Amino acid sequence: MKNNTFYTKQTLKHFRHPHNYGMIKNPDGIGEAGNLICGDLMSLYIKVKKIPLKKGLVKEIIDDIKFKTYGCAAAIATSSVITDLVKGKTIEEALKISKNDIINILKGLPPIKVHCSVLAIDALNEAIYQYLIRNKKPIPEELQKTHKRIELGKKTIKKRYQDYLQSQRRAI
Ligand code: FES
Repeated sequence: MKNNTFYTKQTLKHFRHPHNYGMIKNPDGIGEAGNLICGDLMSLYIKVKKIPLKKGLVKEIIDDIKFKTYGCAAAIATSSVITDLVKGKTIEEALKISKNDIINILKGLPPIKVHCSVLAIDALNEAIYQYLIRNKKPIPEELQKTHKRIELGKKTIKKRYQDYLQSQRRAI
């Protein structure tokens, strides 16, 4: 993985013209994640298509994916890249995507911005988690652990935000 001091051309391109920005009507899974370092938030929506195979088997692919983020340029660029990477992949393939895959496509990120790529990965994991729960499917152990970590992170961010609002009210 390459560490850069500034944003690369690729990052700026995805930031200025993000792919798959927006929401999906009636999504099959919604993932919400927050970044503990900066407090930024992201929502990611997936639509899953079931493709019948031989012998009654079904292949599930992520047919559509969109995101919305309250985050920095790196958060927007990494989210844009993850949506490109995920589209057309199976649930199992999508779960294997790592932050390094995203950063390699962007040809590196400044070290202080590497945490931003985790936001996109976390939101994707959460969307898949919700899809599996809704469809009463088994949740891989690793995904269960990730879900617990993300939930805890969201609670911490909410608490910090409420404390901040309170301190602002006291200051008036
Ligand atoms: S600084 Fe918050 S996601 Fe980048």
